[in-house]
This record gives sequence, C-alpha cells and structure tokens, in this order.
Amino acid sequence: MASPAILCILFISLSLFIVSPAIPAAASSPPTVYEVLAEYDFPVGLLPKGVKSYELNSTTGKFKVYLNKTCSFTIAGYNLKYKSEITGTISTDKIKDLKGIQVKVLFFWLNIVEVTRDGDELEFSVGIASADFPLDSFYESPECSCGFDCDNGIVGKSGKFRFNFKPLVSDS
Ligand SMILES: *[C@@H]1O[C@H](CO)[C@@H](O)[C@H](O)[C@H]1NC(C)=O
Ligand SMILES: *[C@@H]1O[C@H](CO)[C@@H](O)[C@H](O)[C@H]1NC(C)=O
Repeated sequence: MASPAILCILFISLSLFIVSPAIPAAASSPPTVYEVLAEYDFPVGLLPKGVKSYELNSTTGKFKVYLNKTCSFTIAGYNLKYKSEITGTISTDKIKDLKGIQVKVLFFWLNIVEVTRDGDELEFSVGIASADFPLDSFYESPECSCGFDCDNGIVGKSGKFRFNFKPLVSDS
C-alpha cells in the first residue's frame, strides 16, 4: 500500500500537470497546434480546422504547420487561402516570416507576412499594408470550404470583420 507521502506527491504532480498542460511532459501527447497558439496568446481561429501535424522549435519559435490540403474560404467578402504547408516564427503576440497564408485584396493575392496581437485586435500585415481585426472573430477555427459561414451555429461572426487595409506609416 502506498504511503500517504507518496500519494500526496502523486496528487501534487497530477494537479500540476492538469493546470499546466502546456509543459512538454515527457510521456503524454504533445499539445495540439491550437493549444500552442493559445500558449503564445493567439486565438485558435488563426488556423482552420483540419491541421494534420505541426513542428515547433520552442527555442527559436520557428514552426511548420501541415494541413491535409490547401484550404480556401471567403470571410466577409475577402478570400483567404491557406497552403498545405505554413511556416513562420512565433513568439508571444507576434508571428513573423509567415509563409503560406494569402488574402485577396482587389485583384491580387498577397502573402500575409506578419500577425500581431495588440490587445483585443489582431493586425494582419501584407508588407505594404495592414488590417486590424477584432479578436473575437477568431475564437473558433474556420472550416476549409465555408469559413465562418458554415451551417453550424457560428454564423454571424463574419459581420464583425473589418478588413480595411491602410497604408503602413511606420514600422515601429
Ligand atoms: C487527413 O487525411 C487523412 C487521409 O486522407 C485522413 O485520414 C485524416 O482524417 C485527415 N485529417 C484531418 C485532420 O482532416
Ligand atoms: C532549435 O533551433 C536551434 C537553433 O537553430 C537548434 O540549435 C536546436 O537544435 C533546435 N531544436 C530543436 C528541438 O530542433
């Protein structure tokens, strides 16, 4: 029979594990890519549903995300396209060197190169311009073919999108 001390230690380690699932525990399954996003203070809706796998170097923040297939959808009149491989460098509140996500602005497909969280807003930068989105548009992951307009009860989120590209005044 286990002594109370051992039980106690077991209990403590168990609760530690439960409250901090982000800790890369040796044996258990690694966090999902959506949990990793949350760890870096980003909403899960940055990535569509159906991520197959990902790699993350937690020292450098360099990551690769693999989708089963390319994925595109329209949100509030804007076409977004996710390639099947998305790469970048993530740190708290900032994703840079992003490759693999494009938005159609007027007639052009532009790469979203940087995503920054600023309080309750997410700023998407395509290099020459940026757009601010309210954070609550991203609490759910969009689905590949229908974005946020799927017939699953999360209709209406799209109305909150304000995709007003504005010139970048400075980069600071
Ligand atoms: C990806 O595709 C494989 C094989 O087609 C399938 O078994 C798997 O469920 C898919 N994964 C996701 C997340 O859609
Ligand atoms: C992360 O990147 C650093 C610097 O490039 C490298 O030294 C290290 O081995 C990488 N770690 C993993 C787990 O790949």
